[in-house]
Amino acid sequence: MNEDYDVVVIGSGPGGYVAAIRAAQLGLKTACVERRETLGGTCLNIGCIPSKALLHSSELYAEAMNGMNAHGIKLGSVELDLDAMLDHKSKVVKELTQGIEFLFRKNKVTSIYGHGRITGPGAVHVEGNDGTNRDLTTKNIIIATGSDVVPLPGIEVDEKRIVSSTGALALDSVPGHLVVVGAGYIGLELGTVWRRLGAKVTVVEFLDRITPGMDSEVAKQFQRLLSRQGLGFMLGTKVTSVDSSGDRLVVATEPAEGGDPETMKADVVLVAIGRRPYTEDLGLETVGLKTDNHGRIEVDANLATSIDGIYAIGDVIAGPMLAHKAEDEGVFLAERIAGQRPHINYEAIPAVIYTAPEVASVGSTEDDLKQAQISYNVGKFPFSANSRARATGNIDGFVKVLADAETDRLLGVHIIGEDAGTMIAEAALAIEFGASSEDLARTCHAHPTLEEAVKEAALAAHGLPLHI
Ligand code: FAD
Ligand code: NAI
Repeated sequence: MNEDYDVVVIGSGPGGYVAAIRAAQLGLKTACVERRETLGGTCLNIGCIPSKALLHSSELYAEAMNGMNAHGIKLGSVELDLDAMLDHKSKVVKELTQGIEFLFRKNKVTSIYGHGRITGPGAVHVEGNDGTNRDLTTKNIIIATGSDVVPLPGIEVDEKRIVSSTGALALDSVPGHLVVVGAGYIGLELGTVWRRLGAKVTVVEFLDRITPGMDSEVAKQFQRLLSRQGLGFMLGTKVTSVDSSGDRLVVATEPAEGGDPETMKADVVLVAIGRRPYTEDLGLETVGLKTDNHGRIEVDANLATSIDGIYAIGDVIAGPMLAHKAEDEGVFLAERIAGQRPHINYEAIPAVIYTAPEVASVGSTEDDLKQAQISYNVGKFPFSANSRARATGNIDGFVKVLADAETDRLLGVHIIGEDAGTMIAEAALAIEFGASSEDLARTCHAHPTLEEAVKEAALAAHGLPLHI
């Protein structure tokens, strides 16, 4: 069967499905090819959504276990029904992935289930999941094939006892001891889930700090708070092997700098040392497209590759591997292909870790500014001095505002605290609009809200906080 399109998107993750919807909305005949049985990519199927469902459920459980006494609420015995918790997660995933199918129908995007392979400029072959073969011709190809787990050499993931995030989202019992390799987004979010449900959790991190890339002052506080919740950390340490021959796993570690090896027993090991672009069997060689030394497809500022009519977005190109970054690139590219002049501000992409407390940031860190020798003012405000945080009892954390010392332009905002992920939106908006820290400080904030801490941190950047 031959079919001709204006746009063929390969991959239906947040980059691909959003690009397809916008392209179709702008009148382009669009198809989206997906090799999974369901739409939505890593994010909806095995990433953002199932992890947030489990983070929320496990937080409710932890609160019910020990968080309500201070509020005068005594509960009887609290029991974990892990099967029901996992069912809830699966139901949410099913509803949302079906939701994308609905959006495709509504916007007249053709969904094609199967492995897409570029066979030449403007040509994509699809080996259907149902055994059929289709050849698509198109004016534009958008590669949105996302990313996959970085393996740890010599350690085979079986998704049962040695797991990636995918297996860690579906363990059928709470492990006695979970060893997490990598203190990044996945290790800390999923480590937190299983800690709350009762596992002993040890996080082994190669570097001498957690969450590289995060403002280091925030990262230190984050580690302190996670340690208080019972997560154990082995920093500056590498895992050299995992022996799975016995009833329990034996994890061998060694100081990163070299030194005496140690072993520990574990029931599950989660490998979470990063993700890498996924371009397997995509046919890049048929059009002469090469990847860089990180396996990423290289694109210019318009997300165009070196081959006419072939573009790439999301995790498969450079930049933060975040769903909202992929989505914004999807919209940008569809609009660009339709002849519009859109814009993306990579300085204003927020990042959130959904632990409790949450950690959220946008713009430069203090470490970035020091390194770039930009002079800045810093304003900080602790949630312990915020009246709403006092009322709810969630007083851990602070807001940190960084502003240019000369112009007062807002350069970065970092929040560790309850609901930080929601609060970062106003900081992203402020940075997007080129606001100063004074703009933020003079904006009226409702009382009593946690957001008042953002205003106070902005006031503190001028040395004039009101409530501390
Ligand atoms: P993907 O979502 O990876 O989608 C790519 C799709 O392409 C896949 O469905 C794949 O099957 C398909 N595909 C690949 N090759 C082919 C082919 N040849 N033919 C057909 N189809 C193909 N980000 C956040 O912003 N917030 C979060 O809370 C968050 N949580 C996460 C939690 C976990 C556990 C993980 C693993 C990731 C999380 N992320 C989160 C990251 C986020 O999932 C990714 O940044 C995002 O999914 C990238 O979108 P994408 O469209 O580039 O690719
Ligand atoms: P990550 O890049 O966030 O963290 C990996 C960690 O592993 C780093 O701290 C790194 O120093 C460490 N590491 C690397 N090699 C190691 C080794 N051999 N031994 C020990 N430690 C090692 O990667 P992660 O957690 O796998 O997540 C992948 C990506 O998925 C994230 O970078 C993020 O882009 C995305 N994600 C986003 C989430 C969110 O937005 N809330 C949640 C989960 C994932």
